[in-house]
Amino acid sequence: MSNLEKLFSLKGKKAFITGGAQGIGRALALGLAGAGADVAIVDLNPDKGEQTVGEVKALGVNSFFIKADVTNPADVANMKKAIMEKFGRLDIAINNAGIAVHAPAEEMSFAEWQKVIGVNLNGVFLCAQAAAQIMIPQKSGSIINTASMSATIVNIPQPQCSYNASKAGVVHLTKSLAVEWARHNIRVNCFSPGYIKTELTGTMRQDWRDSWMGQSVMKRMGVPEDLVAAVILMASDSSTFMTGADVIIDGAFTCV
Ligand code: NAI
Repeated sequence: MSNLEKLFSLKGKKAFITGGAQGIGRALALGLAGAGADVAIVDLNPDKGEQTVGEVKALGVNSFFIKADVTNPADVANMKKAIMEKFGRLDIAINNAGIAVHAPAEEMSFAEWQKVIGVNLNGVFLCAQAAAQIMIPQKSGSIINTASMSATIVNIPQPQCSYNASKAGVVHLTKSLAVEWARHNIRVNCFSPGYIKTELTGTMRQDWRDSWMGQSVMKRMGVPEDLVAAVILMASDSSTFMTGADVIIDGAFTCV
């Protein structure tokens, strides 16, 4: 292995990815596995989750599925237990599960608001906390949260105040945890994608998607694979002084 390969290698490292069954989480799972990590797939969807486990294993690493709702503390405790039973340690935690609800703020029900904050912000907190409880005694670990460019801008035309607020919360939670856990040699970073082609965006209204293309600098959506290299950077020992960062990967969408 060359020095450069060593710098980015995840060989032997143990990871989990929430929302790992499909979309961005699936691509990240395959990316980490390609760099040598064993990857647990955490998701609500066992069918797609097991499918991703199969794809990860085909790359020659270990993988298994954990059914968990990231908003449920008991599920998250089970996730932690399963990781320790199967992997015995945890080097990389990717808190990626997320949802969106589109409704005008004045009409949105409180339940809809809470649902989005529950998955996107509370879920990230609960899973980051569980990861840190394993990583603190190890005195090492890298936690990576999926935020969004919606933490920085207000997307139009779709109304999504709960999503935007949740993702802004993820960015500042990331910074807060980075500061708290630096003394334990745990790094906490996040990345903020622009519009990425996944099941999440694929089902949204065509006129909204047309509008995004009008606003897009690169005149295309990203694909999940566009995010993999940055996440390997944050997960690997190539970035030991990088913590509290928000890496925006949006084809300059937020620059204009
Ligand atoms: P997706 O909808 O394709 O996949 C999300 C996955 O999370 C699904 O497998 C789903 O079963 C799982 N999930 C949802 N709620 C869960 C819960 N309570 N517990 C456990 N698993 C749960 O979404 P996509 O596009 O892959 O998004 C992944 C992350 O990236 C989300 O946090 C999203 O907000 C973020 N993101 C996505 C962008 C996009 O354009 N697709 C842009 C910026 C951020």
